[in-house]
Amino acid sequence: MRPPSVLFVCLGNICRSPLAEGALRAAADEAGLELRIDSAGTSDWHVGSEPDRRAQAVAAAHGINISRQRARQVRPEDFHRFDRIVAMDGTNLEHLQAMAPPDGTARLSLLLDHVAGRQGQSVADPYFGESDGFTSTWADVTAGVSALIAQMSQRV
Ligand code: 4NP
Repeated sequence: MRPPSVLFVCLGNICRSPLAEGALRAAADEAGLELRIDSAGTSDWHVGSEPDRRAQAVAAAHGINISRQRARQVRPEDFHRFDRIVAMDGTNLEHLQAMAPPDGTARLSLLLDHVAGRQGQSVADPYFGESDGFTSTWADVTAGVSALIAQMSQRV
């Protein structure tokens, strides 16, 4: 049986979705859960780049190394290859809905849809802000990832 799979998606794949990928890998390891996890961007602006230094720093401050990730763009086959595609914000969710092939099987959601009381909310784009913006990005991402892994461990 294939392990459950999740693709996290933001705009550049250098700030928010790499943090979500790193946080879920760490949470899955801790929970002893086998998951296939990846992240991607709706844009091709940073393809091949490592995560933004500020994202690497906030992850490292929580003991998580995301430095080996490299940005890639979402591909049509992702809608078949992943059980879930989880967008960081509403604009990226709309892009995913627009590019989803008609026979795509992945369930699309917003990361914060998984958090009670935060349905429909976006993880704000921290790229053009100050580095302390990444502290709230981290808080939002880990709230979403914790709720998501709780749902996935119940297989709902
Ligand atoms: P991300 O952040 O979507 O969380 O990776 C951004 C990264 C780069 C840009 C915008 C957002 N950019 O405009 O280059």
